[in-house]
Amino acid sequence: MSNQLIIPGFLTRLSESIVSNRFLKISLGNYQGAETGLKNVYARRVMIKRAEMLSFTYRYKTRDIIKNFPLDEGTALIGEFIGSGFKICTLFTTEGEVIVEYNKKQLLSIRERTLSHTVQPVLTHNKEKKRIIQPSGKTYLQELKISDAEGNVFKNAQDKYRQINQYIEILSSLIKELPEGRINKVADMGSGKGYLTFALYDYLHHVLKLDTKVTGVEYREDLVALCNGVALRSGFDQLDFVQGTIADYTVGAIDLLIALHACDTATDDAIYKGIQAGAQLIVVAPCCHKQIRREMEKNKVKNELSFLTRYGIFMERQAEMVTDGIRALVLEYFGYKTRAFEFISDVHTPKNVLVVGIRIKAEAASGRAEESRKAEIRQKIAESKAYFGIGYHHLERLAGLDAEL
Ligand SMILES: C[S@@+](CC[C@H](N)C(=O)[O-])C[C@H]1O[C@@H](n2cnc3c(N)ncnc32)[C@H](O)[C@@H]1O
Repeated sequence: MSNQLIIPGFLTRLSESIVSNRFLKISLGNYQGAETGLKNVYARRVMIKRAEMLSFTYRYKTRDIIKNFPLDEGTALIGEFIGSGFKICTLFTTEGEVIVEYNKKQLLSIRERTLSHTVQPVLTHNKEKKRIIQPSGKTYLQELKISDAEGNVFKNAQDKYRQINQYIEILSSLIKELPEGRINKVADMGSGKGYLTFALYDYLHHVLKLDTKVTGVEYREDLVALCNGVALRSGFDQLDFVQGTIADYTVGAIDLLIALHACDTATDDAIYKGIQAGAQLIVVAPCCHKQIRREMEKNKVKNELSFLTRYGIFMERQAEMVTDGIRALVLEYFGYKTRAFEFISDVHTPKNVLVVGIRIKAEAASGRAEESRKAEIRQKIAESKAYFGIGYHHLERLAGLDAEL
């Protein structure tokens, strides 16, 4: 059969496999064309804005480029590729492979390989993986201007939506680690416009099917009124927002405390409320770290790190790390195991560190070993403060750990 007949025949097989939902992917290899660095091209079927397309990955030596085409254009493009540089092209379907290949005399042949079992096709979306918080039918996402009534996420809200989901994914895996497992009550300190409070409520109630009470604490009256209205219209009857400062909030018993970007020492207030409430899980994303920076600048201690901290930016980073490092020590003192990690890309915000405490010791833990563990932590905090020239750390003071050892 001549090359002129083989290519259209192959493209018909390709179109048929797409129409009958048997198409898995197509690959083009052994490139001998003019484009420098190009090695392979792969195409798979994707859904973009509710339209099916072929997504092509162009593999170069040092990078990949992705281009999407409507199905008919993509199919035609594969025909062009076979005629212009790629020496082999394989169509993968649920039932097997169809391969077209040039021989040394530049004649095309077509052959088939049938699978002994069928494979299920997967139609992926090239932009969004399946998110925990799905946007359709969510009043709160509409009212907070994340999505429209049809559940389409607005272009300018994509980052926020992604961030909400990343955050819920992290919380979801932390919740699964909890030794006691139950989440009866949650407090979100400095809840702001409530993006994350609503999403967490949605996740706890509608994904985990829990009947958790969630409270947002926020000192801006307008935001509290806005969020209570949205909660009402969303039918979230176990969610409320209260106006006031974190420090003045009477916390009671809670299982999970979160505080995302609560300013400066408000994060310390929040952590301390979590400790007092015996929260199983405390998750904070600290914001500005002014209190410790002021202490360090005031006392100007000379140490091995002074060659760094003479620069404002390094001083700022050091203040952040020291503030959060001491916060983690205080949490450990109270029986929490701690973690600190980046939770979203720093493209979105440089304030992207999460400090997490998971309670592993009962509040009433006692005994000589426990006493010496706590004494060691207090010693470590005292030494760090002396080294960095810190008179006091707000959380340490709240917790009463700054008294003489
Ligand atoms: C940067 S916003 C973050 C809002 C929300 N947590 C989020 O991540 O989308 C910080 C919020 O905390 C509130 N806030 C700061 N300090 C507070 C305090 N001490 N008591 C109560 N609310 C506070 C501010 O009014 C603001 O709405």
